[in-house]
Amino acid sequence: MAVRHFLTLLDLSREELRAVVERAIEVKALRNQGVTSEPFRDKVLGMIFEKSSTRTRVSFEAGMAQMGGSALFLSPRDTQLGRGEPIEDSARVISRMVDMVMIRTFGHNVLERFAEYSKVPVINALSDSYHPCQLLADLQTYVEHRGSPEGKAVAWVGDGNNMCHSYINAALMYDFELRIACPEGYDPDESIVARAKDRVKIVRTPQEAVSGADWVATDVWASMGQETEQQIRLKAFEGYLVDHELMSHANSDAIFMHCLPAHRGEEVSGDLLEDEQISVVWDEAENRLHAQKALMEFLQENSNC
Ligand code: CP
Ligand code: NVA
Repeated sequence: MAVRHFLTLLDLSREELRAVVERAIEVKALRNQGVTSEPFRDKVLGMIFEKSSTRTRVSFEAGMAQMGGSALFLSPRDTQLGRGEPIEDSARVISRMVDMVMIRTFGHNVLERFAEYSKVPVINALSDSYHPCQLLADLQTYVEHRGSPEGKAVAWVGDGNNMCHSYINAALMYDFELRIACPEGYDPDESIVARAKDRVKIVRTPQEAVSGADWVATDVWASMGQETEQQIRLKAFEGYLVDHELMSHANSDAIFMHCLPAHRGEEVSGDLLEDEQISVVWDEAENRLHAQKALMEFLQENSNC
């Protein structure tokens, strides 16, 4: 058995992904019943954060503690990573000391290089290209609220960013139709779209994407690392606000998701975000905890290290 990594959703088979989502639902129910188990007793998760985080840090750290293990926060500001020690050397050293590593970084190749040299499973906790842990939580949330997303119509409104790329992978893995509405110049990566061309359509108006959709998702217009483009992007994304008016084009039982943090009045209206009949963002955020616990269990059980 080799070491399993989770750098994108495609690192799991379709069956494995469904099993992780089902296990996440089970892990959540057990926690709500007060049942505890410690499959990670004496285990340590290394957490490398090169970008800010609330949900990801809290969910991984709390999740490890709840499973009997501990988590180590490593930032480039106070490790040799920030002083230029090569990724390959850091991977070999860190992975000899901990049992699993999660990394939030800029270039996706940093994750790939780290994983290549790591003796233990590596998890993508967000790169410029993908955010697969968020999709585990989003899939869990859809299944809990509406059942299987297979065959459903999903609308992505906004930037063709890391979240959008992970929605494309989810469409491929879960067989749903994904309509992406983004302004020209902000399309998702062509090669990622090409891989899923039977499932994905790019359109130029939010209304076209949302019309008849069962699930509508968006994200900020300027991601971490794009702060200097904020003003240009505010102009480019005019008309891409997701609000009750836009949701009125969706199916009557459509739900809204946002990975958070949200910018009320930019990509989403405050009213929609707070409308718990439509918006499931708080469940979605909570599910990061359960989904990642299920993921870590899966990687530990299926890795030889
Ligand atoms: N959604 C998400 O990953 O949030 P954080 O940036 O707070 O971790
Ligand atoms: N696209 C956003 C997601 C944040 C969770 C970013 O990369 O900043």
